[in-house]
Amino acid sequence: MKVLVVAGTRPEVIKLAPVLWGLKQRGITHVFATTGQHYDDLLFKKFIDDLSLDEPDFNIEVGSASPAVQTGKAMIGLEELLKSENPDVVVVEGDTNSVLAAALAAVKLKIPVAHVEAGLRSRDRTMPEEINRILADHCSELLFAPTEESALNLINEGIPPAKIHIVGNTIVDAALSIVRRSMETSGRYKDFPRGYILLTLHRAENTDDTRRLESIFSALGDIDRNIVFPIHPRTSKIIDGTELEKHLVAEHIHLIPPVGYLDFLGLLKNAFAVLTDSGGVQEEAITLDVPCLTLRYNTERPETVLAGGNIVVGTEKEKILENLALLSDPAIYEKMKKASNPYGDGKAGERIVGILVEKQENGELLVESSDTREVQHFRKIIKVNDSLEGKKVGDCGFEIIRIIDNGRQRFPSLDFILKKGMHIEVLVRD
Ligand code: UD1
Ligand code: UDP
Repeated sequence: MKVLVVAGTRPEVIKLAPVLWGLKQRGITHVFATTGQHYDDLLFKKFIDDLSLDEPDFNIEVGSASPAVQTGKAMIGLEELLKSENPDVVVVEGDTNSVLAAALAAVKLKIPVAHVEAGLRSRDRTMPEEINRILADHCSELLFAPTEESALNLINEGIPPAKIHIVGNTIVDAALSIVRRSMETSGRYKDFPRGYILLTLHRAENTDDTRRLESIFSALGDIDRNIVFPIHPRTSKIIDGTELEKHLVAEHIHLIPPVGYLDFLGLLKNAFAVLTDSGGVQEEAITLDVPCLTLRYNTERPETVLAGGNIVVGTEKEKILENLALLSDPAIYEKMKKASNPYGDGKAGERIVGILVEKQENGELLVESSDTREVQHFRKIIKVNDSLEGKKVGDCGFEIIRIIDNGRQRFPSLDFILKKGMHIEVLVRD
């Protein structure tokens, strides 16, 4: 089997590292390519080094551009690469323009796509990431959902359960393995006096809206703790030379360049709390027991909120300060810190590699042609009766696409045991 792994940006390098580690460990032939969407050393090369990865074998060098130009250039470059490398599967992660480009280029060449972190939905279609992740999911043959919630999003959009595997999130693997090293080594920011707030801010819906930036930055002025703010180049370029910059000139605000993964996890682990609009940081915060306030109006990581470790506070100054004040209550603070991690046990990377190997060995790593399927199919709802009671989904002889258990939807994993009174939706092929 030959695997092509594509990572274009900082979070993709981080979340694909556990897959690359697993491929290397098992001696599986693989090629690592970057689109070059992130090209600054502080957003890319530093992560290759911190995560002990080999340099990418190929770089498409798309750089920064408008969405269509960036995605289009990446598709053109990746198409050439896919034709020359002819991999059995292309592995992508997340929701950036690079992911969309790789997924589209591959599926159009009938090369199966495996999407890591499939099924996340914010339901906010103004976010570039939401469009990218929906399209990438629908281009994919193998969908690695981090949680049952994300797997349900996929089946509700008509993706067959057989393509979906709930494996946890690879960020847990990456964060747990690197935070240990981060705590053992002497990082630049390690001795920063405790009690600070860590801040990250780069999402387009915030950076491209001056009113929101103004509101978030003016809240910072009223926070009576140190704030450490490793600033994303997107954000620094937008505020550079504007009135907004003045908000960040205060003794308690420590504006620093983006930091590598070892330094960032050290900063996060030692923080009192994190304020962020990042996806990955919401996941790492609950993994490392750090209360998180999300500077957005929605999240595609609702599991973190339901678990109690994250509050979606929006971008209004008063709301940010109000929610931060809640953390001064030790009971609330401890509860947020102790929220259980919904993203698994840190073995997602191993699981993903295991499933890729199994699919390849079973001859299932392919984009199926419609003439290998039925002419027509329809859906039927069945109530679980005596004859189905106690049977596993995988053993009951039906293609189950949905389970309703006491009003709650459940994912039809092959080992899910059916119980009387449940309803199942089955796909009948004609
Ligand atoms: C991209 C992703 C976003 C992800 C983020 C991770 C899309 C649509 N967005 O956002 O989902 O959360 O990566 O960090 O794919 N720039 C540099 N150096 C670089 C790269 C970018 O200075 O190495 C600056 C450029 O001014 C560029 C701007 O950042 O125009 C935005 O870069 P871009 O890759 O388009 O999107 P991100 O904001 O990084
Ligand atoms: N990160 C980092 N250094 C920084 C800021 C973030 O290492 O200065 C890491 C962070 O640990 C997380 C990842 O970058 O894993 C998140 O990337 P980002 O916020 O850029 O993208 P998103 O997750 O929102 O797509």
